[in-house]
Amino acid sequence: MTLASFPRGFRALVIGASGAIGSAFVQALTDDAGCGRVDALHRHSAPPIDFDREASVAQAAEAMTAHGPYHLIVVASGVLHTPAFAPEKRLADLDYGRLEQTFCVNAFGPALAIARFAPLLDRHRSVLAVLSAKVGSIEDNRLGGWYAYRASKAALNMMLKTAAIEVRRSNPGAALVALHPGTVTSALSRPFRGAERGRPPADAVRDLLLVIDRITAQDTGSFVAYDGQRLPW
Ligand SMILES: NC(=O)c1ccc[n+]([C@@H]2O[C@H](COP(=O)([O-])OP(=O)(O)OC[C@H]3O[C@@H](n4cnc5c(N)ncnc54)[C@H](OP(=O)(O)O)[C@@H]3O)[C@@H](O)[C@H]2O)c1
Repeated sequence: MTLASFPRGFRALVIGASGAIGSAFVQALTDDAGCGRVDALHRHSAPPIDFDREASVAQAAEAMTAHGPYHLIVVASGVLHTPAFAPEKRLADLDYGRLEQTFCVNAFGPALAIARFAPLLDRHRSVLAVLSAKVGSIEDNRLGGWYAYRASKAALNMMLKTAAIEVRRSNPGAALVALHPGTVTSALSRPFRGAERGRPPADAVRDLLLVIDRITAQDTGSFVAYDGQRLPW
């Protein structure tokens, strides 16, 4: 597919490019004849972005300045579980270790990426999209559980919304949005029957790129699902 709303030769940057959804974004953008450049950053790229190392975010942004301005920036990093922990099933499972690590990767890191990379957005037409999750919607929360993941995505959503209000003043051509990809087959979803319930990352990314292509500067600060539906915060 081709992103028709972006200028021919547009430049894209994917953070979290080693993940299932991030790498599918890199592939789809590489295959888009209209895309002139795709930069893929992750924990082991050159430069690296590791949200456990705060300085790496500013250093990467500094290094990428020469390759911008970017028309599309996607932040596709995230964590739900690690070898050390699974998401909480009940209140009694809460602990600082799980909360800190989940908030670092899902909220602090992406927020810092927005702060350091927003100045690299093109001034005429650009979109910065962060991968959020519908379970981060406070209004939509009916099942409970997954405290750290839900709360970290809600925090990410607030960071995104607040940044969108500020960035609109300095760059009215840019749109900052939070996207929900639906359930996607990946390492993140695998322990939760993601392989059976999820879609292939390439399918989710095709839908997300269709959504991104329709996003205008007026949509900045919104939370949108893969099918284009606006989600409640
Ligand atoms: N899969 C789903 O069903 C689903 C549903 C809703 C929302 N999402 C969201 O979609 C996004 C992508 O998920 P995915 O399914 O593609 O997961 P994934 O395949 O597990 O990819 C996660 C990505 O996050 C990166 N990451 C983890 N810890 C990091 C850290 N400390 N610093 C920097 N990067 C770090 C990983 O890097 P490494 O490769 O180095 O580990 C990888 O690039 C996440 O934000 C997730 O919450 C996914």
